[in-house]
Amino acid sequence: MKITYSGHSTFTVETPNGTILFDPFISGNPLIEDKDLSRFKPDCILVSHGHMDHVADVEAIALQSEALVISNYEVSTWFGNKGIKTHPLNHGGKNKFDIGTVKYVNAVHTSSLPDGSYGGSPGGFVVWNEGYCFYFAGDTALTMDMKLIPMTCPKLDFAILPIGDNFTMGYEDAAIAAEFIQADKIIGCHYDTFGYIEIDHNKAKAAFAEKGKELILMELGQTIEL
Ligand code: NI
Ligand code: MN
Repeated sequence: MKITYSGHSTFTVETPNGTILFDPFISGNPLIEDKDLSRFKPDCILVSHGHMDHVADVEAIALQSEALVISNYEVSTWFGNKGIKTHPLNHGGKNKFDIGTVKYVNAVHTSSLPDGSYGGSPGGFVVWNEGYCFYFAGDTALTMDMKLIPMTCPKLDFAILPIGDNFTMGYEDAAIAAEFIQADKIIGCHYDTFGYIEIDHNKAKAAFAEKGKELILMELGQTIEL
């Protein structure tokens, strides 16, 4: 699978069954110069929660690509009211889509939409199909609920976890999360975008290495194959 990092929590994952875009936030990201959204052509957009730094470019990309937006009930309804194709999930629920099975799992955080509407409870996603399984945690604290993921989903090939601290868990807690979810390869997200969440990359990698885990910190625009 090809994974492309577009800053903050924005990832494109190209699976054999289609392309998934997570939490598109390009237009408001101070680190990204190229604000052109036309390069995004996903089959579906998975939205972890309603905060601006996760939903900013959902509408524009969904309208240009006709991608299906999958999120919690409240966020899905909010985008559905804008004429976007959506599918609502709620915590613990999964559904089979063309791109694979998508399960909405617990996150400990908050969720409100840019206009102040209620954004439901925030979540993360576990996505799997024949031959692969990965977890996108969204914004979350370290939570014991993460231990349920290996009990209820196929073995994870990798996970995308927030590591920036302040608004989410920091890398120390994220390294413990990697143990809870039994994943060896972790891609970091939600760090360095703003002053509050700037981190020391070497210390972050060392925290994971201590637990026998690999922390991958991707460059903006970089694509890797896992
Ligand atoms: Ni958030
Ligand atoms: Mn956030």
